[in-house]
Amino acid sequence: MIGVFDSGSGGLSVVEVLRKKAPNADLLYFGDIANAPYGEKSAEELSALTKKGIEILEQNGATTLLSACNSVSNAVLAGAAHNLPYIEMSIPTASYLKQYAGKRFLLLATPATIESKLYTKAVDGAVDINPLGIPGLAGAIEFNASDEDIKNMLIEVLSTRAGEKYDGIILGCTHYPLVLRIIEPLVRAYFGTIEILNPAYPVADEVARTFDISGTGTMRFLVSKQSDAFEAKVRALFPDTPLTIEVLKM
Ligand code: DGL
Repeated sequence: MIGVFDSGSGGLSVVEVLRKKAPNADLLYFGDIANAPYGEKSAEELSALTKKGIEILEQNGATTLLSACNSVSNAVLAGAAHNLPYIEMSIPTASYLKQYAGKRFLLLATPATIESKLYTKAVDGAVDINPLGIPGLAGAIEFNASDEDIKNMLIEVLSTRAGEKYDGIILGCTHYPLVLRIIEPLVRAYFGTIEILNPAYPVADEVARTFDISGTGTMRFLVSKQSDAFEAKVRALFPDTPLTIEVLKM
């Protein structure tokens, strides 16, 4: 069974893509909503939360790990998954980016991901990564801020790069594709028709290639705190799938 880890609902954007490629994969999801958002926490805090989250997934039957959270990738790459085979967000994305050798990308991500230099390290000079942190955006998405507030947060940050030339934009936080409807028109307005790369696609490809995706398509969601916003997102994304959402006693 594939364990999926995120601070909250961001990983749902990866599961959405994965379900289309691997509808029979059995998935166990843990969203650490009691500690969300992760994107402004220190590397030490994230390492501890990641180890705990992965333990919860293992205790509940996960045999492989999809770390669907860029903010904890560094912790996973540094060994937080112990012996559990894992796939995180940056390595499959860097492999995909090789075809764009020498091109210039804007990386939108949480401050923690920017701080960790995750994508700069992963691409190893193959493409030019220009990091741009968006403080607070993942939390705003997690806890259902209004579209207007989310748009204003994006404008405040994206406008600082207006007029710059990029070949593409990387959505370096798994929460961001959940508001692609707001991000896309702003990217078009500021930077024109450039590729908007959702790492969920190369990551889901890698999961489908590497992990056991045979099964019966079960979906079980665990959360560290009850959240109507999380439940609504799950039900909206997977309306026809029988699934359970359980609040863990932590
Ligand atoms: N969705 C996660 C990421 O990709 C975490 C965002 C957050 O909780 O701040 O970084």
